[in-house]
Amino acid sequence: MTLLNGKEIANQIKDEITAEVDKMKIRGEKVPHLAAVLVGNDGASLTYVGSKVRSCKRIGFESTLKHLPEDTSEEELLKLVKELNDNPDIDGYIVQLPLPKHIDEQKVLLAVDPDKDVDGFHPANFGKMALDMESFIPATPFGIMELLRRYEIDIEGKHAVIIGRSHIVGRPISILLSQKGKFANATVTLTHSRTRDIKALTLQADIIVSALGVPGFLTEDMVQEGAVIIDVGITRVPDDSKERGYYLTGDVDFDAVSKKASYITPVPGGVGPMTIAMLLQNTLLARKRRAEKS
Ligand code: GUN
Repeated sequence: MTLLNGKEIANQIKDEITAEVDKMKIRGEKVPHLAAVLVGNDGASLTYVGSKVRSCKRIGFESTLKHLPEDTSEEELLKLVKELNDNPDIDGYIVQLPLPKHIDEQKVLLAVDPDKDVDGFHPANFGKMALDMESFIPATPFGIMELLRRYEIDIEGKHAVIIGRSHIVGRPISILLSQKGKFANATVTLTHSRTRDIKALTLQADIIVSALGVPGFLTEDMVQEGAVIIDVGITRVPDDSKERGYYLTGDVDFDAVSKKASYITPVPGGVGPMTIAMLLQNTLLARKRRAEKS
């Protein structure tokens, strides 16, 4: 079994981006600038956004955090989105999800300028991705594809079973794995809460991507020998013995499943760091595209 070390690969990608940013600086060019919008104080979102902003600093990007209170109105948030669209200094930005319930998420995502949509959540980008056109690819599925590519895992003609059909992970990874191309060309089954017999399907899988958020969902009896296991789940389980009061766990019963797997991602240290690396990659791309246009 080989551990898919997302942390290490993410650091490699960050080093590659840093080298590019250093060259931009030497040439006197503007460096990429990422903004993040966070509404409210959801603990996990605070952690994710904090990591994204810290990573920007580490690699030489500019970053801006717009932290708004929980009771921010939809109108106020849409006003901020418009400001970010109009601000020539911002190359790309993200609106951290989930948003508070009183705000219509779709309305906000639709208001983001697709050229600055480094999350790839706007329908213009999502549609282009589905049609194999150049776009911004959502960071988590992009990170999974990059991890498979860097470990040179052959997925051509393989059966990939995805658990969960979220717009952020399950749906887009189903599209990317089934695309034409090197390190793609898989046959995909997208399973969800209404799927009748998930175990019958996972037992046929060469690759399993679990993006459910249910700790320990994927057990050893659901996996065939030699499968590639990608665990996207990241759940906080309360634990008083830990300093932060919780520990992080994935969807996969790691100890048992890793004995059968050919490759497996750990949680933490697998897909999570890759998400941040690919967001930075998208921001660099946004900067380059803007530079070409001006
Ligand atoms: N919430 C969970 N994952 C993500 C992500 O990749 N981007 C944003 N904006 N919010 C998220």
